[in-house]
Amino acid sequence: MVVTTMAADPGESLYSTFASRYVQTPSPGLSPSLYLSLYCGGRFKMPETAIPREAAFQIISDELMLDGNPRLNLASFVTTWMEPECDRLVMASINKNYVDMDEYPVTTELQNRCVNMIAHLFHAPIGEEEAAVGVGTVGSSEAIMLAGLAFKTKWQKKRKAQGKPFHSPTSSPAPTSRYTVCWEKFARYFEVELKEVKLRDDFYVMDPVKAVEMVDENTICFEDVRLLNQLLSDKNKETGWDTPIHVDAASGGFIAPFIYPELEWDFRLPLVKSINVSGHKYGLVYAGVGWAIWRSKEDLPEELIFHINYLGSDQPTFTLNFSRGSSQIIAQYYQFIRLGFEGYRNVIENCMKNTRALRDGIAGTGRFTILSKDVGVPVVAFSLVDAGKYTVFDVSESLRRFGWIVPAYTMPPAAGHIAVLRVVIREDFSRGLAERLVSHLCKVLAELDALPGRTAAAAHLAAADAGKAAAEEEEIATFWRRLADRRKTSGVC
Ligand SMILES: Cc1ncc(COP(=O)(O)O)c(C=O)c1O
Repeated sequence: MVVTTMAADPGESLYSTFASRYVQTPSPGLSPSLYLSLYCGGRFKMPETAIPREAAFQIISDELMLDGNPRLNLASFVTTWMEPECDRLVMASINKNYVDMDEYPVTTELQNRCVNMIAHLFHAPIGEEEAAVGVGTVGSSEAIMLAGLAFKTKWQKKRKAQGKPFHSPTSSPAPTSRYTVCWEKFARYFEVELKEVKLRDDFYVMDPVKAVEMVDENTICFEDVRLLNQLLSDKNKETGWDTPIHVDAASGGFIAPFIYPELEWDFRLPLVKSINVSGHKYGLVYAGVGWAIWRSKEDLPEELIFHINYLGSDQPTFTLNFSRGSSQIIAQYYQFIRLGFEGYRNVIENCMKNTRALRDGIAGTGRFTILSKDVGVPVVAFSLVDAGKYTVFDVSESLRRFGWIVPAYTMPPAAGHIAVLRVVIREDFSRGLAERLVSHLCKVLAELDALPGRTAAAAHLAAADAGKAAAEEEEIATFWRRLADRRKTSGVC
């Protein structure tokens, strides 16, 4: 245990270079009660009094230093870098509420342009003069809720018209293969039974044959695509149903059009009625933007659209929330016109090249099995060939020492015995960083190899703990002995 003391002279802190003086002493920025409430257990209640802005800034910045570095966060698809010009546009519009459409008509217009650009990118069957049907959202999750709701409403309308039951909460299942929480949320919040297509050891994507087997007359929608479209149209013909497809293109929606243009997964397939995509993933915008796009007006039931006029003119809205920031929409528009098709293709191709470089480096260690495919999203997923002595969780933890955040996790239930590490390659993850990561991975492996096995290590730790406790006791005793000695000589009591 380390014994700390408060700064002896309050005046001293006034000249301190570091504004961490605010947390050393109640003076000059913090009243004693505020100091106590911020640092001594009262953090969950609003302080009684105000503090200088520099103090608030410094306190929060100091705490935030303990967060990970977003650029080294390889767990996430979400954008962590944009050009400075785009950052400036973001900051300039940070005080604009997107929903005030009449007051900020240009922002609304930029959103509409984004919807139309994405709809064309996804081959929506719209004429040159026709407007696309879609909406900006906070992310793919909100877009999925909206698209699911549109399917459910259409299905219910049809059932009502046929005089069939339409209330049963388990009556409208949506098969999905991916273990993404937003689909579970959709199912629970909107009372839709979720039918999951289980993954297998050697098959980590949804099997379309299995998915179509699970479809019944209550199925309102599902994800994934070409073969699915074929199998499902056969089944629809056979049964007279008209089960549609929703494509969850959270990451892939801004990848496939640029590097796999021949791949048919979008509105080119007749049963695809809606698609969601995250603007904040490979749309290359900071967190807070997604898009839901429908094939046509007929696929978005009119009764779900609210018309508001109290902010000015009539404004149709179909979102789960009301107010939201404008910055991300403006940033999305910036990326579209700044990069164009060519720029996006370059960025994604570069990500794929860096993915291959990283994959080769990791495979070259001879210690990992690569589980991710060479095509698809720029991700490298890998498991330890031999997890006897230590696990991928140990590797992940050790990499933290170098600043890397590389998540380790187990696969969904059917393949739950497989634990993997996963690195997502984003625009700002360069070839140099990929090489650095491999070299740190090698260091970590060498260190872990040198450690004794688990049982020996546990015994070693227990012994070390006992030794540490004894040393701490000795340290405390010495401190008090010295204090007592000083008091004896200085006469202070
Ligand atoms: C396939 C899939 N769908 C939906 C989502 C949710 O996306 P968002 O974070 O944009 O809400 C994710 C998140 O990573 C995802 O991978």
